[in-house]
Amino acid sequence: MSSTSTINTSTTTTLVVGATGATGKWVVKMLLDQGNHVKVIARSKDRMLSVLQELDSDDTKKTSTDHLTVTEASLLDLSDEEIQEQVKDCDAVVSCLGHTVDFKGLWGHPRKLVTEAVQRLTTAIAKSDNKKAKFLLMGSDGVSNPNGQDDPRTRGERTVLFLLRHLIPPHADNEAAAAYLHSSLGTSGGVEWCVVRPTDLINGPPTGDYTLYDKPPGGLFGAGVALRSNVAHAMVALITNPEKWAQYKFQMPSLYDNTKKAEETK
Ligand SMILES: NC(=O)c1ccc[n+]([C@@H]2O[C@H](COP(=O)([O-])OP(=O)(O)OC[C@H]3O[C@@H](n4cnc5c(N)ncnc54)[C@H](OP(=O)(O)O)[C@@H]3O)[C@@H](O)[C@H]2O)c1
Repeated sequence: MSSTSTINTSTTTTLVVGATGATGKWVVKMLLDQGNHVKVIARSKDRMLSVLQELDSDDTKKTSTDHLTVTEASLLDLSDEEIQEQVKDCDAVVSCLGHTVDFKGLWGHPRKLVTEAVQRLTTAIAKSDNKKAKFLLMGSDGVSNPNGQDDPRTRGERTVLFLLRHLIPPHADNEAAAAYLHSSLGTSGGVEWCVVRPTDLINGPPTGDYTLYDKPPGGLFGAGVALRSNVAHAMVALITNPEKWAQYKFQMPSLYDNTKKAEETK
C-alpha cells in the first residue's frame, strides 16, 4: 500500500466507508481496478485486505492494492479534524455503511450509524479546503425520496414501513440520513450528493445490466433484485463520469437489475 501523496491527476481519489461490506468491497475493487486511488476507514485492515483477496479468487484480474490506503478505525470514533484530514484530497466520498444483521447491530449502538456518518462526512467536506468532493450514499428503495416524487405506497406497504420505522432502528436511520441530505444540505449548491436506492439486494459478480430509475418503478415486495456489485458499478460510474454525476446529483435514483434471474453465487 502506498500513501496518497503520489496521486496522478488523471485518476480520482475516493474515501470509502463501509468498505469491508458486501457492496463496499466491490466499490473499492472497481475503483482500484480502474487505476484510481482509494482511501478506506475500516475497523479491521486485515478484513479489508481479505475481502478483496476473496474477490480475486473469482476474478481473472487480481486487484492491486498499491493505490489503497487503509486507516484502521471506527469512523464515528474519529475526531472532526481527523475526518476533515481524510476527505480533504478526495474527489468523492462513498458510504456503504450498514447495520450488522444481528441483535447488537440492529438494536445496539450506534443506532444512527448511517445518519451520523453522513452528517460528519458531509460537514467535513464543507469545512475542508476541498469542497469539490461529491458524496454518495448507498440507501434502499424502502426509503422514500423526501422531495415527494415517488409514487404513493399502497396501504399495505405503508403499514409495513410504519412498523419497520418504529421497530427496526436501521430503517429509521436510513430515512433520517436521506432527510438530512435533503433538508440540511439542500439541492441547490454546497456539497453535492446522491443516494443510490437499490431494490432487494443479492450477491454475485457484476453484470452491468441494470437501470437507474428516477423513482422506484415497482412496489416494495418482489418487484425485482439488484446485485450489490451492480450497485457498486453504478456508484463508481457516478464518481468517474461527470455526465452521470450531472444527471443524478441531488437525486435518489432507484437501482434495479434488468433481469430478475441474476445468479446468486457469492
Ligand atoms: N435495498 C435493500 O433492500 C437493502 C438491503 C440491505 C441493505 N441496504 C442498504 O445497503 C447498505 C449496505 O448494505 P451491505 O449489504 O453492503 O452492507 P454490509 O455487508 O452489512 O456491510 C456493512 C458495512 O458497515 C460497516 N459497519 C457496520 N457497523 C459499523 C459500525 N458500528 N461502525 C463502523 N462500521 C460499521 C461494516 O464494517 P465491519 O466489516 O467492520 O463490520 C461493513 O463494512 C445498508 O446501509 C442498507 O441501507 C439496502
